[in-house]
Amino acid sequence: MTDTPSCPSPAPPPVWQPIMPSDDLLPGTVCGIRHLGYPIVLWRDSQDKIHAAEDRCPHKGLRLSLGFVRENDLTCPHHGWRFSSDGHCSLIPAQPDQTPSHSICIKTYPIRDHEGLIWIANFMGNGAETVSACNLPFPIKPEEIPITCS
Ligand code: FES
Repeated sequence: MTDTPSCPSPAPPPVWQPIMPSDDLLPGTVCGIRHLGYPIVLWRDSQDKIHAAEDRCPHKGLRLSLGFVRENDLTCPHHGWRFSSDGHCSLIPAQPDQTPSHSICIKTYPIRDHEGLIWIANFMGNGAETVSACNLPFPIKPEEIPITCS
């Protein structure tokens, strides 16, 4: 008798929720919000793309929403660590000649700019902790949620 592999449940699709008017986030600016109790930082780069991430610097825990945008990256105001749209640290100013470790990253969230509103994919409570620059590509479309069974 062979064991039949168990089939894990597919991840539920995200629910997209509007969080603020698109015009309220100008190019090159940063904004902090709370969504379902989670502190989230939003920033719009110079190409007009919006990004969302956990509002906490992995260095010393400062709120990244107090920071600013430099070369399209979110920059922490305390020691200037920069984070790219995929959440990985792109620069540590104190070590300008070194590439930051790939393990230094912030959790990112799928975000959309649509019909004059900014929308966030609500994974909270059903796997939000797995939506991370550390282990998934960014951005994620609902149809891109991995399903492991056919
Ligand atoms: S606390 Fe953010 S770079 Fe140091």
